[in-house]
Amino acid sequence: MKIAIGNDHAGVEFKNKLMEELRSKGYEIMNVGTDTLDSVDYPDIAKKVSEKVLNGEAKFGILICGTGIGISIAANKIKGIRAALCHNEYTAKLSRLHNDANIIALGARVLGEDLGLACVEAFVNTEFEGGRHARRVGKIEQ
Ligand code: RB5
Repeated sequence: MKIAIGNDHAGVEFKNKLMEELRSKGYEIMNVGTDTLDSVDYPDIAKKVSEKVLNGEAKFGILICGTGIGISIAANKIKGIRAALCHNEYTAKLSRLHNDANIIALGARVLGEDLGLACVEAFVNTEFEGGRHARRVGKIEQ
């Protein structure tokens, strides 16, 4: 499975650990985030990951900033993106089941790396339930 990942300066170490773990599990990871601690603007990273998801290069996206808040707000301004800020496996799983989220946002200063990985695995391995949820997601898209 192809996944695009992006982060600002607050998420470099967190991103590296996550990429290493995900690659060792066989996921194909496209890194479009920053790799240095020099300050960058998270909306630019949100846009890069969103483009990969929308053009089909990646099935899902992962966005990381300090809290996950700014980068998820930015991504959700882009039509077709449903970015879910998740703090545990439950919210990660439900964001797929009920909201058909296509990007998971994580806070590098909020979560431990192991919990971040567990969130991503719950996210990418859960199918959208459809049914009544499809109607609601359709209204979001309108
Ligand atoms: C950067 O210092 C920080 O503001 C950013 O990573 C993020 O937490 C914003 O929501």
